Amino acid sequence: MKAPSKPREVWATRVGLILAVAGNAIGLGNFLRFPVQCAQNGGGAFMIPYFIALFLLGIPLMWCEWAMGRIGGRHHCGTTPGIFHVLWKHPVSKYLGSLGIFIPTVVAIYYVYIESWTLAYAVFSVTGKYFGIMTREGMGEFLASYQGQYPSAHFKNIVPALLFYLFILFINVQILSRGIVKGIEWLAKWAMPTLFIFAIAMVVRVFTLGAPDPTHPEMSVLHGFGFMWNPDFSKLTQSQVWLASAGQIFFTLSLGFGAIQTFASYVKKDEDIALNGLTTSVTNEFAEVVCGGSIAIPVAVAFFGVVATTAIAKAGAFDLGFQAMPIIFQKMPLGQLFGGIWFFLLFLAAMTSSVAIVQPLMAFLQEEFQIGQKKAAWACGGVLLAFGLPVIFFLKYGFLNEFDFWAGTFGVVAFAVIEIIVFFWIFGSKKAWEEIISGADIRIPKIFYYILKYVTPLYLIILLVTWFFQNGLDVLLLKGVSETNVPYVITARVVLTGLLAVILLMIRQVFRREHRIL
Ligand code: PHE
Repeated sequence: MKAPSKPREVWATRVGLILAVAGNAIGLGNFLRFPVQCAQNGGGAFMIPYFIALFLLGIPLMWCEWAMGRIGGRHHCGTTPGIFHVLWKHPVSKYLGSLGIFIPTVVAIYYVYIESWTLAYAVFSVTGKYFGIMTREGMGEFLASYQGQYPSAHFKNIVPALLFYLFILFINVQILSRGIVKGIEWLAKWAMPTLFIFAIAMVVRVFTLGAPDPTHPEMSVLHGFGFMWNPDFSKLTQSQVWLASAGQIFFTLSLGFGAIQTFASYVKKDEDIALNGLTTSVTNEFAEVVCGGSIAIPVAVAFFGVVATTAIAKAGAFDLGFQAMPIIFQKMPLGQLFGGIWFFLLFLAAMTSSVAIVQPLMAFLQEEFQIGQKKAAWACGGVLLAFGLPVIFFLKYGFLNEFDFWAGTFGVVAFAVIEIIVFFWIFGSKKAWEEIISGADIRIPKIFYYILKYVTPLYLIILLVTWFFQNGLDVLLLKGVSETNVPYVITARVVLTGLLAVILLMIRQVFRREHRIL
């Protein structure tokens, strides 16, 4: 396409590559989002559509995204505008690819902020700052005042939250500015093993809790697992459960973001993708189902009971992690230590994911605009800060939720539909399949060819259509948004549209300059 000024970086080792992609996938989604989704959507019954989505959407799409990334790498581009252009010589393809930069960047904007809470709470656990607050309301107030929603005895203003945020943003920029091998691979090599050790320590702690209150034998870890795993089959008739489970598969495996393609674009030309893609998916599922599923919910049932745990889970993704867990730590021996382990575990999970969500923008700036690595990393930091500040200051008005919904929930499924159509139907199913199996260290059963060609796209389209009729229209028309929040939600949408427009213009400019327009 264009002459590269210097050869693209490639992952130094296979272990490093697998750890980095696993680090990309394993994030807050595994330890916070998964248990909450599971509890909200019928406990064990959720796991049925979840595993169906894993086999029919998750793993097949994982292979596609790795394959697309490897193709991109060969053409010196690691982002979807360029990759789509290689796959489909049509003027519109590059613009469709804009979503692979827009979506991860929008998610990165709020993800980095949440990441900073995890580090802050690790510190608050070890120092015992929240110790003494024994009610959920109290912990809710602690969190809200930390976020600057209103002052309390614990936090007078948002300054501590801002400082933690700026620190985390700075660390992300530092890692990104060191590049793929010295930055991201280096981070994954120590952070991922540490994360697994911490996760296993937490799981063992939970398993050995039993029933902490002898007067309430029904409040036990065992009941917690029962709650997680006993299927309520009646839920399976609700489309909501199917949508939620597919959404979780996307979020947790980082699919439909453009982020897997970017990581896969740094593999060697003939590197296996079949086994690598599968290994990273399996590692993520282990971290999610085995570790993520064995910590927050079972422990919450043991200390609060099933009814309260369901209520906590219904209240939202952060109530479990940032309100219920801190109370639990105060009730268990060595609570400060385990609190520190839990939040530091979340921090490591978030850190290895956040660098991955920023990397598409990073690669786009480096490759398409020839911006140096350091400058590109600082530019990414600037973008995150500029868009992050409104998210931080308008948190209580639903800014973050709006970003999360359009990019992290709806956007990813929509982008996955586009991807699979471009790769399997336009580029061609035979060629796409050849690409997936070339250099493979395992034999992928041929059935996946048919799944990818027919089942995955159909499944995705049904999901999108159902979603649209079930709650898409309500969301679009702001149903259920409080009157105070309406102007903020609309502003958030304008901001998002503006960001998308800028990315589209940048793509246009690049392709013009390089006469890549057809
Ligand atoms: N998969 C990550 C998680 O579970 C989120 C993520 C999405 C990370 C996209 C990188 C890219 O939290």
